[in-house]
Amino acid sequence: MAARPPFSSLRRWRSLPRLLTLAVLALLSAAALLVMLPGSGQSGSGPSSPPAAPTGPVPVRVLMPAPLADAVAAPVAQFNASTPGVVLEVIRGPLDTETISDLATGSLLLGEAPFDLLLVDVSWLPRYVAAGWFEPLERWLGPESLAAMEPGARLGNGLDGHLWRMPLTGDTGLLYWRTDLMERPPRDTDELVAISRDLQRRGKVRWGYLWQGRQYEGLSCVMVEVLQGFGAHWWNGSTARTELDSPEAVAAAKWLADLLQDGVSPQAVASYAENDALQSFAAGDAAFLRNWPYAWREIEKGGGPVKGKVGVTAMVGAPGEQGGGTLGTWGLSLIKGSPHPEEAVAAIRWLTGPIVQRQLAIEQGYAPTWSTLYDDPELQRRAPLLAVQRQALQHPQLRPPTPAYAQLSDLLARQVNGMLTGQGGPGPTMAAAQRQSLQVLRSLAGPAGDTAAGRPAVDR
Ligand code: GLC
Repeated sequence: MAARPPFSSLRRWRSLPRLLTLAVLALLSAAALLVMLPGSGQSGSGPSSPPAAPTGPVPVRVLMPAPLADAVAAPVAQFNASTPGVVLEVIRGPLDTETISDLATGSLLLGEAPFDLLLVDVSWLPRYVAAGWFEPLERWLGPESLAAMEPGARLGNGLDGHLWRMPLTGDTGLLYWRTDLMERPPRDTDELVAISRDLQRRGKVRWGYLWQGRQYEGLSCVMVEVLQGFGAHWWNGSTARTELDSPEAVAAAKWLADLLQDGVSPQAVASYAENDALQSFAAGDAAFLRNWPYAWREIEKGGGPVKGKVGVTAMVGAPGEQGGGTLGTWGLSLIKGSPHPEEAVAAIRWLTGPIVQRQLAIEQGYAPTWSTLYDDPELQRRAPLLAVQRQALQHPQLRPPTPAYAQLSDLLARQVNGMLTGQGGPGPTMAAAQRQSLQVLRSLAGPAGDTAAGRPAVDR
């Protein structure tokens, strides 16, 4: 699909400095990726070497964030051992979704990505599809390839009637609670605060609730859940606009601000990403934690003071409201122009298939996408989060499905983090976030006034 030119020609001239910055970033990213290529610098087999002889094994390269690259190391070795003529090479990228997206975008803008496959965060898809960087997959995988997956896992893979991504994980945000400190998890946000305060007062824990408040995309994932939990909506799919200044959205932001104000969460939450919150919870500092499914395995593997004392439940909402976790899936997409699409799709089939997902669920705690795995009694025993993960995948919360998501997330995280560090109350914070979001959406609108940025995703 052709990308809509995002700017009028006048704006394009005004944006020249930004375009130059982008070009420099693109070159730097491409250079960084070449350095990361497996074997580069040692064996001389990088792209500057002579092309492989036509009879040699076909290289298929996939860029992944480091934790997932490590998690699939064994399945990649299995693929290579059982697929003569193809060598699957993993480029181990940075951890953060924004950093790896910047890296991938840099080389995709140059049109010479040194990878055939990209592990894509669900939040990137509309932008990458609008830019025309992916090859549709239905030609190889068939139109019904997602039919046997859990409902949430089917979301965020299709757009404009095409399948662009095959999901490898079915992760959602979850609420972790201490089974040694309470009999059951809280049913709503009021109970979460009441239990926290009681435990803090009795000196059982230093903090009530740990979450991700740093100025980064992880805070946007928290916001998706809290907004939903207070009956607010970040994105209105029918108007293709944000609704961040509604009274419900302000109440949601106030709940977060109050957590810090009242000492239920530490001030340090404003600088916490996933791992900071996880480490503190694993050390026994708090009653509750918001995190992704992998955190449970980390806690159990770590053998710290809360090992064996942690329960997991679906994210709660305010009293009378339906809670729900943010959908955080990663999946594989095929880069347009890959010289080896057949071999690359064979790697997608294997890595996203049930055998690998079974391994990932047992060893790393990632949520599978395939429904049959949730019905497997042995897997249920070896991956105890399965029932909660399945429940969370029935009604997960999506981030705004727009090519403008990165900008919207950036400004919301900046505003909310500012509020957490005392730079403004919930009302002005959310009003500013709404105003800036509308500016972003307007600036990306096409000449006819309709907007590629606002076009909703069509999931299959
Ligand atoms: C996890 C999620 C991803 C999200 C990120 C935020 O990796 O899978 O969707 O963007 O966390 O930190």
